[in-house]
Amino acid sequence: MRPELSADTARTSRSALLALRDVHTHIGAYHILHGVDLVVPRGQLTMLLGRNGAGKTTTLRTIMGLWHPSEGSVEFDGRPIGELATPQIAALGIAYVPETMGIFSDLTVKENMLLAARSAKRAEQMDTARLEWIFKLFPAVEKFWNHPAGKLSGGQKQMLAVSRAIVEPRELLIIDEPSKGLAPAIINNMIDAFAELKRSGVTILLVEQNIHFAERLGDTVAVMDNGRVVHAGGMAEFAADEALQQSLLGLAL
Ligand SMILES: Nc1ncnc2c1ncn2[C@@H]1O[C@H](COP(=O)(O)OP(=O)(O)OP(=O)(O)O)[C@@H](O)[C@H]1O
Ligand SMILES: [Mg+2]
Repeated sequence: MRPELSADTARTSRSALLALRDVHTHIGAYHILHGVDLVVPRGQLTMLLGRNGAGKTTTLRTIMGLWHPSEGSVEFDGRPIGELATPQIAALGIAYVPETMGIFSDLTVKENMLLAARSAKRAEQMDTARLEWIFKLFPAVEKFWNHPAGKLSGGQKQMLAVSRAIVEPRELLIIDEPSKGLAPAIINNMIDAFAELKRSGVTILLVEQNIHFAERLGDTVAVMDNGRVVHAGGMAEFAADEALQQSLLGLAL
């Protein structure tokens, strides 16, 4: 064996917080993922791109144990998690914001936050320094603290959903299309908040259709098509290669 090769392999596995290898997922009779290989490097923001129906959401749901791989492996921090149930996966320090956001409309913003904070039973027990940090990232969360979450606008709901995911420290944040349906000004707020989250050192895996969003925030990129990752590499290189974007996404950045 070539020593430099094994040293390289060791380095790769240390830097990958999450790694999917040859993951196949079936939903009922349908074979949806056809061998997904995906590496999410520690401390970076990885963008998962791809046309509608490419398998992005199914990949996130498979990571979270909402579907289980029929073949292949999912490793978090070097540990296999493909067989674990969703609460066990979340307890390892992975937060997931689904496309549907998962917030409770009838409860107040405060109650929504409290439900997401596993270590607090009452609002006073929530980590105040962390709450202050969240209020700075997403002022709407503070502004509507005692209002029912159902009254928030689409963008404010999205901000609440992300706030719930970070109410306690997490190692990995997985978010499905945070900019969906948002006005450009709100998207810019969201980009700033994610840039700040990145600076805090959390590893992030984001599904995004908004190309501007992807280009501004992504360190690494993986592009899916037909249930597979068909391209993986640096975001800057991908952003500079219009022909590649055209062929993989049918549009250019
Ligand atoms: N519950 C389900 N039952 C059957 N087929 C499903 C189910 N969920 C997803 N699929 C199919 O799996 C494929 C991948 O869907 P998925 O939601 O992962 O795509 P996506 O990349 O997230 O798309 P979008 O950009 O539209 O959100 C699609 O063909 C979809 O119809
Ligand atoms: Mg989706």
